This record gives sequence, structure tokens and C-alpha cells, in this order.
Amino acid sequence: MFETLKPLPPDAILGIMTLFRADRHPGKIDLSVGVYQDENGHTPVLQCVKRAERTIIDAQDSKTYVAIAGNAGFNRGVEALVYGAEHSALKDGRVATVQTPGGSGGLSVAAHLIQRAKPDARVHISDPSWPNHLPLLELSGLQLEVYPYYDYVKHRVDFDAMTAKLERVPAGDLVLIHGCCHNPCGADLSKEQWNALADLCERRGLVPFIDIAYQGLAEGLEEDAYGVRLMAERLPEVVVVTSCSKNLGLYRERVGTASFVLANAEASKLALANASNVARGIYSMPPDHGAAIVAQILLDAQLRALWIEELKEMRTRLNGLRRLLVDELRERKTPVDFSFVANERGLFSFLGIGKDQVIRLRDEFHIYMIESSRINIAGINHANVGYVADSIAAVLK
Ligand code: LMR
Repeated sequence: MFETLKPLPPDAILGIMTLFRADRHPGKIDLSVGVYQDENGHTPVLQCVKRAERTIIDAQDSKTYVAIAGNAGFNRGVEALVYGAEHSALKDGRVATVQTPGGSGGLSVAAHLIQRAKPDARVHISDPSWPNHLPLLELSGLQLEVYPYYDYVKHRVDFDAMTAKLERVPAGDLVLIHGCCHNPCGADLSKEQWNALADLCERRGLVPFIDIAYQGLAEGLEEDAYGVRLMAERLPEVVVVTSCSKNLGLYRERVGTASFVLANAEASKLALANASNVARGIYSMPPDHGAAIVAQILLDAQLRALWIEELKEMRTRLNGLRRLLVDELRERKTPVDFSFVANERGLFSFLGIGKDQVIRLRDEFHIYMIESSRINIAGINHANVGYVADSIAAVLK
């Protein structure tokens, strides 16, 4: 029966990662998959994670199951991090959270729960969005539509086009919004835009579905949660998916949550029971180790302070690299003004160059990025930035 399966094109992101690994050139540069890299091109295990792991391994005396909803300490810790410990939705018992295998597992649980609650639900995703949003959410049977988001010419959020589209969306539909560090364009909503979007969702009866996978990597842990906190304050129902892959460097441990803000405490109990039942149907129990690490870090004041320092270091490095790349490109007097890269946030920006130029950078210069010209800023360092700028200038000639 499997002979009926069709061949597939390589994954837009992981396919480039495979090409990079196969390249034997010693000077190759990876600006593709969204993992943080340090100045040496290494994706390190954070110190706070190492310390938490040692404590956990020494203390652990059983590998029995934890719970379908996962580690309760982790879930409460993530809720406080994302919504803020004093948030009215938490105080009112309006939030239901389950631990999931990464943010992708969170998206999947959320999508299935939405589908169960409202089989004809439509989710509107930004153009562009993380390439995996579409296939992942479609697997649960949800109908997807797109709304305009990024202005590729002006290199900023096209808020007028975005809101004009959302004004015409039927009440009850969901709007998938990147909480911060938009993947792939790096252009985030300002506070004013979040405020206007909250008004629009309230007035039009739309449900925000916020994917926040990079909290702490734009401006700071509190600042980056502005949109989630606002929506959870203003709207009766909000879906929030989080990830600890990037801000805690726990990629392969698969740690995230699907969190639901409901109209009241009663509805939140119902949502928790159903989200747990959905999780049981997909993977039964989430993996434990990563969530145990995060719970330990969030509960222990010293480890938490260490994490906040390490996160700040990553964020400062990313924002510094953005300015450095722009300066280096300016020195080469490229025909394109790349200053927008310094204003964007998180791991990604579009260079805005053509597919042919992206392929030349890969084939002739051994610099790998996604075909849309999305670069991972963290792949740049002080040793390779000159070469990266020279190569971009060369393909633009
Ligand atoms: C990315 O966008 O590169 C990351 O989120 C990794 C992935 O799984 O696609």
C-alpha cells in the first residue's frame, strides 16, 4: 500500500540544513536553520541547564510517568513567565496549560483542540510565516487562510493591509500571530499595533492564536510578552503556544506548552480535560527531561538569575550582529540599503535578494540560507562577517 505515497520536495528549512552538512568546504557558513550559535559557530548547552541537569539526575529515583499534562511545576512556571505572575487571567483561574513536545507539539495539540471545539474553524496565518505552520496545522484538519503581514519593499509590517484583511474575517475565526521575533521576517508589531489589534479582535470577535517561540530574544522577557499579556487581559479566549527550544537552548529535548485562556474557570477545566485527552491521543505523555530542567531553573533563584544573564547575552549578541552586518554591507556600498536588518529582532531577517542570488551564495560562496533569503543572524560572527558582506555584495553586482 505504501507504493501509493508520493515523493516530496525537501523541507524548506531542514533540506538546506542537509545540504550544509554535506558541503565539505572548510569555510562554509550556516545561516539556515533557526538555532542560536555563539561566536565560534557552536550551539552551546546553557550553564543554567547544565547545573539544573546535574541536580535532577542526582535526585531522580524513578522514570515512571509524570502526567498527560506534564510537569505541573513547569506548567505553572511557564504560565508566570508568559502571562506574568500577577496576570488577572491566572488569578481568575482562566488559564489551562499542558506541557507539550516542543512548540510544534503545542501547535498540534492546540490545532486539534480548536478542531474539536469548532470543526469549521479557520485560522488566518501571516504572509509570510514559519514554513511549517501550514502543513502542521493542516494535519489537524483546520482550514487555513493567509493575511498580508510583511511589506517586502519597505521592509516593515504592513499593518494597514493586515488590519484591512482582518476586518473582513468572519467572527469566531482565529488569527495566528507571532508573539515576538517574527519567523521568518524579524519585523514585530509595535505596542500601538498590538493595542489596535486587540481592539480589532474584540470588536470583530476574532480569537488570537499566539505562537511565542522566542520570548526574551527581542527586547527582554517582559517586553516580549506584551502582546500575549494584553490579549489575555482583553479577550475572553486566547490560544498561546510557547517553546523553550530557543530561549533555553533545549531544542532536542522538545519542551513547550499549549496554553488556553478561557472565558471563566469552569471553561478552563473543560479545556484542560480536553487538551489532555487530545495529547493522550497523539503521543500519550510528553517527554520529561527538558521540562524538569526548566522547572528547576524557574524555581531556583540562582539558576533563574543565571538564565536571565545568559539569555541577555544571546539577545545582546544578536542585536549587535544586526548592526555589525548592516555596517559591513554599507562599507561595501551595495546597491541595496540593508539598514532595516538592524531594526528587526530575533534570529531572522529576509535579505530581500532573489532566489538566484541565494543559490549563488550557496554554490559559489558556501553560505547557506533559506531560499526565501531568510538568514539566521546568529550564524554570523566577527570572523566571518567580512566574508559574508563581501559575498552578498558580489552577488548583487
Ligand atoms: C526555524 O525556523 O529554522 C526553526 O524554527 C527550526 C525549524 O524546526 O524549522
